[in-house]
This record gives sequence, structure tokens and C-alpha cells, in this order.
Amino acid sequence: MNCTSEQIQAVDAALRHHSGERHALVQILREVQAHTHWLPRPVLHRIAQGVGLTPAIVEGVAGFYRFFHLQPVGRVHLLASDNVTDRMQGSRELAAELGAWLGIVPGQMAADGSVSLGFTSCTELCDQGPALLVNQHQVVTRLDAARVSMVAEQIRAGVPPSHWPIEWQRLEPNIRRAGPLLGADPMTGPALHAALARGAEATLAELAASGLRGRGGAGFDAARKWQLCRAAPLREGSTRVVVCNADEGEPGTFKDRVLLAEQADTVIEGMTVAARVLGARTGFVYLRGEYRFVLEHLQAVLARRRTAGLLGTGILGTPGFDFDIAIHLGAGAYVCGEESALIESLEGKRGQPRIRPPFPVESGYRGQPTVVNNVETYAAAAHIALHGGAWWAAMGVPGSTGSKLHSVSGDVARPGVYEWPFGVTVAEILAEAGATDVQAVQVGGPSGQCLAAHEFGRRIAFDDVPTAGAFMVFGAGRDMFEVARGFAQFFAHESCGFCTPCRVGTELVRRRFDKLAAGYGSIFDEAELRALESLLHGTTHCGLGASATNPLRDTLARFRAAYESRLASPRFVPAFDLDAELEPARRVTGRNDAGAHLERQG
Ligand SMILES: Cc1cc2nc3c(=O)[nH]c(=O)nc-3n(C[C@H](O)[C@H](O)[C@H](O)COP(=O)(O)O)c2cc1C
Ligand code: SF4
Repeated sequence: MNCTSEQIQAVDAALRHHSGERHALVQILREVQAHTHWLPRPVLHRIAQGVGLTPAIVEGVAGFYRFFHLQPVGRVHLLASDNVTDRMQGSRELAAELGAWLGIVPGQMAADGSVSLGFTSCTELCDQGPALLVNQHQVVTRLDAARVSMVAEQIRAGVPPSHWPIEWQRLEPNIRRAGPLLGADPMTGPALHAALARGAEATLAELAASGLRGRGGAGFDAARKWQLCRAAPLREGSTRVVVCNADEGEPGTFKDRVLLAEQADTVIEGMTVAARVLGARTGFVYLRGEYRFVLEHLQAVLARRRTAGLLGTGILGTPGFDFDIAIHLGAGAYVCGEESALIESLEGKRGQPRIRPPFPVESGYRGQPTVVNNVETYAAAAHIALHGGAWWAAMGVPGSTGSKLHSVSGDVARPGVYEWPFGVTVAEILAEAGATDVQAVQVGGPSGQCLAAHEFGRRIAFDDVPTAGAFMVFGAGRDMFEVARGFAQFFAHESCGFCTPCRVGTELVRRRFDKLAAGYGSIFDEAELRALESLLHGTTHCGLGASATNPLRDTLARFRAAYESRLASPRFVPAFDLDAELEPARRVTGRNDAGAHLERQG
């Protein structure tokens, strides 16, 4: 099979756009697929030729990312968000209903190729869900039965998604509480002026004095990271690199989405301050593929800043201060939020975490010293450059300075983003969000921790309850076994498969949960789950595997009652029906007496 002329055009245009650069492979694949809907083998081979890689490598990269299709999908490809909180809002039933209107079931494509439907991990629109992702390009929020039937109507009438009612795509910022980051006007220069006036050394000293720690999860000291990168030796002709991690894939986290939509200038200003401190010329925003809808806005902000002399050559008239930023879109892989996997993806490869050392600050993007920080970290850095370290350090608590953004969703009256100083209690956030009769809060997403009501007096801080920003609330009626099961499914789905304990372990945990849900649980399964939990904590290559069983650990410890009825049998029960398996043998031997049946275990 050869490429069609349309496919050839799409491939050649993408190759031209990226000058046949193999490091742009993920972007090339995205751009081609936007025209061809899927990536047939001849298309991949033409791309391989164009970038000078083997077809096997290009197929290997395309096969890694869930948003690349190696099999045909519908001209309208719908993905329903499948986080636990989406399910609580009826997403699974709504997806089935949508499928029924369209004559397909989730996972299927219509015979005429007009439409296909599937599920995807959290789209991070939890505050206005359930949501649908359409052609990985636009969203439909606030799905309900009426909207589902109207979406189906539009598809059946052949209306292209770009012509669907704009109201369906409306995105609310839902900022419920603003602090220094969300309450200020977006910055178009003041922090840069301050950094230039102070100088690189003194700006770094302010950052150190602020005590700012990374907001992406690990809480690494931001000034120390910048200092290590600044001190790393440069090869001839190379530069230091500033990367903004906007992959935001942790289910239930949407505060970076809001920062990018409402405070993009401040985030970019923070990156530019970092470039000044590090002496970096190259920058990237790694934007999760699901946030494609924010791309044009970000590009407009970058273009405006170039015109205003805030990006480009000789920033603010300063000779030698040359820095620019490109946006790289991800393609549906949660693990690419891990900084070394992110860098692999930026280089056009499969997003598999690297073996460290060397750390990115010494050898990151294309072997160059690279700082990777979270969106919120850069926004905070811009404010610190402007107002000084002492101003930031005066907020929060010792060891956890400043403010922190929380994405609040689930069983609350007012879902949205809340900016609180560190040290706020879980109970205070719950009260402000209008949550009553709460059974549990999952702080920091599935890789964070699950707290029960007696712990709601604990404080959000790195040495008490650390968080990357998710705050999912579960009311008294929720089944915490199903919550943990949903998260186990997420990790099994997102494991990149590089190391065996995670690839196999997450799948075994998922299957064990399914076994219990199907009514085949026994006390032996609990022992097996606990063994898998301790195995995964100590043996995996990256943080995804290491935290994959946190929800299991926490819910078993705090909500054992939710497991008890499922673990009741004192005797081992296999996950399949042994007696039914013997049916062919009974037919062959012509027996159906009691002796030809196994006693039902239980
Ligand atoms: C599986 C996995 C996913 C991650 N996803 C994100 C993410 O979406 N955004 C983010 O900023 N950090 C994420 N991280 C943490 C990054 O590896 C890294 O620590 C962070 O980007 C550093 O920025 P910070 O110091 O400003 O927090 C993830 C880590 C792991 C192990
Ligand atoms: S722990 Fe999981 S996600 Fe991380 S490298 Fe291993 S297989 Fe990949």
C-alpha cells in the first residue's frame, strides 16, 4: 500500500515545517495525523525517510503515545474522560448513552468511519465535567443526557466539530479563591526589569531567600535546581535550557490549566527570569496534548511578548540576553510528566524515564544543562523576582513558604481552583468549597495520599500533607473500594512498560481489584495485594510505579470496611469459574451428575 496524495501532502508539509528535524518527530506525527486522522504504515515510513530514522524507530515512537492511532479511527473521534470523579458524575453511563445514539459501543468505530468513541485518562476538566475530548483538539464540557443527544445529532447530521455550539466548549476558570498568583494582573515585564536591575546572582539569591519549592510534586528547592544548572559546564555551541512542565496529567489536577489560561504572561515571565539567571537561550513549554485548546492563546502570548521585546534577541534592549520559547504538545502519556521522560519526548522519542544520574540540570535536552519546573513554580518565581524573597517567605509556614494552588473537585458545592498559603488545613479547604458529610479526600492525586475524616485537621505542607495540587473529595456515600480500583486502572493503563515490576505489578493489582469487584475475593487476595504493594514501592524505575499502589495502601488502612465484604471468603476463590471450564469435558464424557461438578467454593 502506498501513501495517497493527500497523505503525501500532509507528511511533506509537516516535514517542511520542522525542517525534517528528527527531534521534532512527536510534533511531526501530531501534525500529520491532524490531517490523516490515523497513521498508516506507509505514512510512518515516509516520515521515517524524511527525518532519517528507521521505520521501526518511528513506529516505536508512534506506538508509545495513546493519541497516535495506528489503526483507523472515526472522522470524529470522541474520548470520554475517565477519572474516578468523572465516573461519580455519570461519565460511563453518558458515554454508553452517546454510543447508543451513534449505534456503537465505547471502543468502537461506526461502520461508515464517521465516528469512534473511547475513554481516556482524566482530561483535567473535573470542575466542569464530565467532559469529552473531540479529535484531540476541542472539548465538550458539562455533559448531561440532553447534551449527549445533541452531540449525537450533530454527528449524525455531519456537522463538523468546529461548527458545534460554542457554548459546549465554554471553559470556566472557576477561580474560587485568589492569592498572590491568581489575584495579580498578568506580568508583561516588571519582573524582568527587576531581575535585570538586580543582576543574575542577586535574583538567584532572592529565590533562595524565598524558600520556593517546586510545585510539580517532589518539592525540590527551586533556587538549588537553578544554581546546579547554572554551574553545570557547557559544551561548545550548546546552551542551557528552560523547560516548563505543563503536562498536568495527575488525575484531578487542573490548576496549571487555569494558570496557563489566566496568567500565561506571568508563567512566561518566570521562565524568562530563569533564562536570565541561567544564561539560557532555549525554552520549551511541554503542553499536555489534552490542553490543545489553550495552544493558540499561548502562541498569541508568545508572539505579543516577542513584539514587545520580552522574548527574542536582546530582550528589553539588553545585549546578549537572547531567549525564546517553543511549545511542544504531548500526545496522551501521563508518564511524560516525569521530567526525564518529558525530555525524551521533547527529543522526539518514546517518553520513557531516563536512568539518572546524570540529572537534567547537568545533561537534559539534547545533552544540555536543563531546568524543568512546573507551571506554578515559574509563576511564583516571577513574583519573587518582582517582590523579593522575603515577601514570599513571609507567607505560609517554615519549610513550605508562599501560596499553593488546589484543584478542588468531587463532592463539593463549589469545585474550582483555590489559592491558599501553605499551612491551611484540609478542613478549611473543605469548608470553603462547600463540602459536607465528607468521607475522604485524595490530596495530590492518585500518587498522593488519601485522608479520612479524623485527619482533616492536618495541614497542607511539605512535612505534613504535601501536594502537587489535586484535592478530590468523596462524600459519605462513595464506595472507597471503587475509588481505589479506578486509580489502580489508571496506573495500569499509564505504566510505560519499561520496567517489569511496574508493567506487570500494576496490571496484577488491577486484575486483583477486578476479581474482588466480580465477587471472587478471599482473605488470600488481601495478602497478595499487600505483597504487590510492597514490591512496587521498592523496585520501580520511576515515581509512577513507586506511587501506583498509594491508593490501595491508604484505603486498606483507612477504609477496610469497603474491602471486607469482598474479602470475606476464608478459602481461596479462583478468578474464573472452574466448574464452567469443565463443561466441555462433561459433554465429551456424557456426564452431568454431581460427581462431575466441582463444589462451589465459598
Ligand atoms: C509519573 C510522573 C508524572 C509527573 N507529572 C508531572 C506533571 O504533570 N507536572 C509537573 O510539574 N511535574 C510532574 N512530575 C514531577 C516532575 O518529574 C518534576 O519533578 C517537576 O516537573 C519539577 O518541577 P518543580 O520542581 O517545579 O516541581 C511527575 C513525576 C512523575 C514521576
Ligand atoms: S515505573 Fe512504570 S512508568 Fe516508570 S519507568 Fe517503570 S514501567 Fe515506566
